[in-house]
Amino acid sequence: MTDHTRHAQTNGSEPPRESPVRHSREPRRDKHHNIRQTARRRFPRPAWLAYARFYEVYPQSFADTNGDGIGDLPGVLDRLDYIRELGCNALWLNPCFDSPFRDAGYDVRDYTRVAPRYGTNDDLVALFEAAHERGMHVLLDLVPGHTSEEHAWFRASAQPDPADRTVLPDGPHPESPDSPIDVSERYIWTDSWIAGGDGLPFIGGETERDGTYILNFFKCQPALNYGFAHPSQPWQKPALGPDALATCEAMLDVMRFWLSRGADGFRVDMADSLVKHDDEGKPFTIRTWQYLFSKIRPEFPEAAFVSEWGRPHESMEAGFDMDFYLDWRWGGHPNGYNLLLRNTDTPLLHEGDASYFNTDSGTSIAPFLEQYLPQLRETERADGLFDLITCNHDTLRTAPRLTERERKVAYGMLLTMPGCPFLYYGDEIGMRYRPLPTQEGGYTRTGSRTPMQWDSGMANLGFSTAPAGQLYLPVDPDADAPTVADELARQDSLLNWAHTLLTLRTGRAALTADAGFAVVAAPEDGRTFAYLRTAATVAPVWPAQGIAAEAAIDAPADAPAVMLIAMNPGRETEYVELPDGIGTSPSIALALGGPAVEDGRLRLPPQSFAIVE
Ligand code: NOJ
Repeated sequence: MTDHTRHAQTNGSEPPRESPVRHSREPRRDKHHNIRQTARRRFPRPAWLAYARFYEVYPQSFADTNGDGIGDLPGVLDRLDYIRELGCNALWLNPCFDSPFRDAGYDVRDYTRVAPRYGTNDDLVALFEAAHERGMHVLLDLVPGHTSEEHAWFRASAQPDPADRTVLPDGPHPESPDSPIDVSERYIWTDSWIAGGDGLPFIGGETERDGTYILNFFKCQPALNYGFAHPSQPWQKPALGPDALATCEAMLDVMRFWLSRGADGFRVDMADSLVKHDDEGKPFTIRTWQYLFSKIRPEFPEAAFVSEWGRPHESMEAGFDMDFYLDWRWGGHPNGYNLLLRNTDTPLLHEGDASYFNTDSGTSIAPFLEQYLPQLRETERADGLFDLITCNHDTLRTAPRLTERERKVAYGMLLTMPGCPFLYYGDEIGMRYRPLPTQEGGYTRTGSRTPMQWDSGMANLGFSTAPAGQLYLPVDPDADAPTVADELARQDSLLNWAHTLLTLRTGRAALTADAGFAVVAAPEDGRTFAYLRTAATVAPVWPAQGIAAEAAIDAPADAPAVMLIAMNPGRETEYVELPDGIGTSPSIALALGGPAVEDGRLRLPPQSFAIVE
C-alpha cells in the first residue's frame, strides 16, 4: 500500500482507483515515445545489501520479556541468535516509536523516542550493537509522509495564533541549535475552516486554527508538507520551495538521529506520497528524494533505504537502493506478485485460488514474468534491487490457504530470486492468518499480526507470561498451531527448509541479491519455472563489516558461478532441458520432491524444486 491518494489497500479491501497492471514485456515508453532510461544511481548502493537476507519483526508480536502482554525490544534482542541461526542477517523493524497506536505505530508522535511499551532508546541502541556484533544490520521504519495528530509539530501547527506555532528542534540543527522552529507550514493547512482539500482527503472542525488540513492515510495521520507539484491555491506551497525544504530538513534530522546511534537504514513508508498532486511518474516526489539523499548519503554512505513504492522505475530514479514488489490486487486484478501467492478473492480457501503456487491452479509463471521482468531490468539498470517478500504486516499470510508443501516450493523461489529476500516473522514456521477483530487500525491485516509461536509447552506458546486475556492479540489456539520448537525438531519442517535455502544463499556469489537472472523455462501451457542465477563476472566486493566474516566462514571456495533453479508446483511430472553453462556433470545441490538429472534434462515430479550446479 502506498500513496493514499492513488493506491488502494491490499487484498481488494478498497475499490480500485488506477490499474497497476502492465501487460508488456517492453520497457514502458514516456509520453514522447522514448524508451525511458533509468539513470544509474548517484550514490553507490551499500555493499552489504548484496548478501542481506531480511527478517521483518513486528515488535508488538515477537517476544515479550516484561510480561505485559506485548512484545518489546529486549525480546527482539533475546531472539537475535534465533534469527541469525535461521539464516537471516538483517532486520526490518516495524515502527517502534512513541505513538497513540491508532495505526499500529505508523502514526508517530515522537520520531526520536522509543515507545515505552517497547522499551527505551537505550534498548534500541543495544539492539543495534548486538546485531552488529553478529554481523547483522537493522533497518528502522521511517514514516516521512505523515505523523500522528498528537505529534508536537501538529499540535503547535494547529494553534490559532501564528506566534504560538513553534517547537524546539528534534535533532542537531546547525543554524540555530536551540531556537524555536516555526511549524506553521509543516502540515498542509488550507486558509479557511470551511475550505475543501482540492480533491485530497481533509479534516475540518478539529482544531482552533482557521483552516482545514490534508490527510495522508487515516484520519489520525495529517500529511506533512512537501508541497504541491503545481500549486493552484494560495495555501498550496511549491514542492522543493522553502516550506517543503523545511519539512525535508526535519526528516533529515530524524534520519540523522537514528543513523548516528547505529541504525543501518530505513524501510520508508509510503515513500511515493510526499508531493501532492504530483504528475504522472511522480517527478516532484522523485526530486524531493534526490534532495534528501544528496544530504544524507554523504553523511551515512553505508545506510540502506528500501521504499514502499512498488514502481522501481520511479523509486530507483528517486535514489532508493531497493523497492518492494508490493502486493496489489484491485477489484480482482492481480499484479505480478499477487499472481504468485494471493490470486484469490477468498483468502482462506484453497479451492478456487488461482495463485501460481497453488498446486491445483493450473496456472503458468509466464504472466508473472511479463510484469516482473521489465521492472527487474529497470532496477538492474539503476544498480538497485527489487525485493520479494514472503508476506508483510499489511498482507494476508499464505497459511492456511496454501499447504506446507506449496509454501516450500514458493519459498524455494522467493528465497533464491534477485533482490534481498524478506521473510515475515512466523512465516518460517507457517503461522496462519486468523480472522480477528481489528486492533490498532489493523482491520483485515490484524490476522497476520498475531504473537510469534515459540513453544507449545509454554504459556501463550512462549510469547509472553501475561494472562492470555492481556495479550496484544490472542495466540493461535489450535492444538496443532506450529511452533519454533516443533519445527526445529522435525527434520523436514518448513523452518528447516527455509533455513537451508537462506544459508545456501550465504556467501554464494551466484545467489547474491545482484547476481544475474535469466529465465530458462516458463511455458505458458505448463507449470515449470526455471532460471539461472549467475555471479557477476567481476569478483564481488566483500563488504567491510560483518558480512565479510560471514562470507569467509560460509562460502565454499569453489562455489559455482552459475546455478539453475527449477520448480514444478503442479500435479504432473515436467522436464526442463539443462541449459549451457550448467556444466558437464551437473549435480543437484538442493532437492524437494525427487527431482533428477536424466539425459541432459531435469525431471521435476509433482510439487518439486531443485537447485542444480
Ligand atoms: C504502509 C504501512 O505498511 C501500513 O501498515 C500503514 O498503515 C500505512 N503505510 C500508513 O502509514
